Amino acid sequence: ASPYEMILVERQGPAGLIRLNRPKALNALCDQLTAELADALAALDADPAVAAIILTGNEKAFAAGADIREMQDRAFPATYMKDFVAPWEAVLSVRKPVIAAVAGFALGGGCELAMMCDLILAADSARFGQPEINLGIIPGAGGSQRLTRAIGKSKAMEMVLTGRMMSAEEADRAGLVARVVPAAELIPEAVKMAEKIATLSPPAVAMAKEAVNAAFELPLREGVRLERRFFLSLFGTPDQKEGMAAFLEKRPAAFKG
Ligand code: CAA
Repeated sequence: ASPYEMILVERQGPAGLIRLNRPKALNALCDQLTAELADALAALDADPAVAAIILTGNEKAFAAGADIREMQDRAFPATYMKDFVAPWEAVLSVRKPVIAAVAGFALGGGCELAMMCDLILAADSARFGQPEINLGIIPGAGGSQRLTRAIGKSKAMEMVLTGRMMSAEEADRAGLVARVVPAAELIPEAVKMAEKIATLSPPAVAMAKEAVNAAFELPLREGVRLERRFFLSLFGTPDQKEGMAAFLEKRPAAFKG
């Protein structure tokens, strides 16, 4: 039996798939859901059979944000002392690639959770938004920062100031998502990505993820230095010898990690 009530965890080949599963509340991110999510992410990250993690919702919603019912009576300073957003950042500690597969609403904290993942694959039905301003608050899980870095100041400012939602197509044009696929192909496409990643060298994959994410944190010169150290250190792995030998011998590489 699953230890979880608000998420479903399954394996699809080398992918660990987490489905947010509170459909009646459009997967609103209440404390229990985020605690379960943090637990499942850590378990899949530790499972050697899992190459990548897919985080998804259902057809109607990835997640419609933090749980407004639960937040309504939160007060300061108690809410400051017990930061209810902090556990969401569990996704940032995962070392394997995390793919957000978004169909339907990704609003407020839902959009922010998707942006904490390494990449967003969007169904054509996806809608992204930061509507917190309509509630008398502002984004609180990185929306004002990650959305701005992803799509630029004017677009982010318009969304955060007015709460306007973006379609999947607009999100694609703005660079928020990696690709848009028909809704029926969302999970199969995400699993294909995980399957490809599973054939690659695990240390190279881990360093690639860390290096790209560092572009959000570091000044350019420091980011390039980090990349160079990772790049040169990979020449110490048997997988580098195997990958280059396989290329020159015109055969598929068999990476061992
Ligand atoms: N929290 C709690 N419950 C939510 C919810 C949320 N964020 N979003 C939707 N629900 C609930 C609704 O209350 C409703 O429950 P009942 O059936 O019990 O009334 C159910 O989900 C279905 O929602 P709707 O009837 O509203 O569905 P709709 O199709 O008419 O509208 C929607 C869909 C446009 C997404 C609308 O639900 C909506 O605007 N939701 C709120 C979005 C929002 O404001 N998100 C930001 C939250 S704040 C935040 O996230 C803070 C942060 O940055 C950390």
